[in-house]
Amino acid sequence: MQKISIYGAGRVGETSALMLAQKGLCQEVNLYDLRANAAAGAALDIMQSASYFGFDTRVSGGSDAELIRDSDLVIITAGSPRKPGMSRSDVLDVNRAVIDTIVDQVLELAPDALLMLVTNPVDVLTWHAWKRTGWTRNRVFGLGGVLDAARMAYYIGQETGHSSRDIQTMVIGGHGDSMLPLFRFSSIHGINAEIVLDSEARTRVTERTRNGGAEVLNLREDSSAYTAPGAAVVTMVD
Ligand code: 2OP
Repeated sequence: MQKISIYGAGRVGETSALMLAQKGLCQEVNLYDLRANAAAGAALDIMQSASYFGFDTRVSGGSDAELIRDSDLVIITAGSPRKPGMSRSDVLDVNRAVIDTIVDQVLELAPDALLMLVTNPVDVLTWHAWKRTGWTRNRVFGLGGVLDAARMAYYIGQETGHSSRDIQTMVIGGHGDSMLPLFRFSSIHGINAEIVLDSEARTRVTERTRNGGAEVLNLREDSSAYTAPGAAVVTMVD
């Protein structure tokens, strides 16, 4: 891919830009944020790491909408994150307005792009963005299950002592309390997770997977997760 643009130079946007550059998945990553200097500073900080991470991807940042033009993929992370005690749906109204503005800009500047939603509540906003674009459904998708599947792998690793690298998982449903970790489609070293984990362990893994985002937010207090979301973004792009 030639060009990926990211709306939002917050922690998720910046982490995603760094990981995209490290994996060399495109020629250029543009971080767009109304706070031009925040985006430019994040981009410069990433570029200054290029010699040690060995990437050639060009990362730039700013508030000029021209950064978005002709993007192959647009990733939307902009919006208000939830605060401790809030559900992802509590930021729907404020973030829907953000998505509307962004989608209208993408329709004008990158009409052939793919569109990935990260902003919460991601399921509802992905549907809303898809409707607003009028595009075919395979061009608009949201980050949810991929992040939750990573958390499920971690918690299965905590239960079994195995490395997350040897654990394959699947989580379907919404990116919230309705998510459904599927143990029968998950495995540890190729062994079905329903065989390895007893009912109590599966319940513990399910609960911790569902609350994985809130658990990080409650510990940090001033920020929701961004490393695992960034890793999930890059995994989906790959
Ligand atoms: C999470 O689950 C931010 O929704 C994201 O951490």
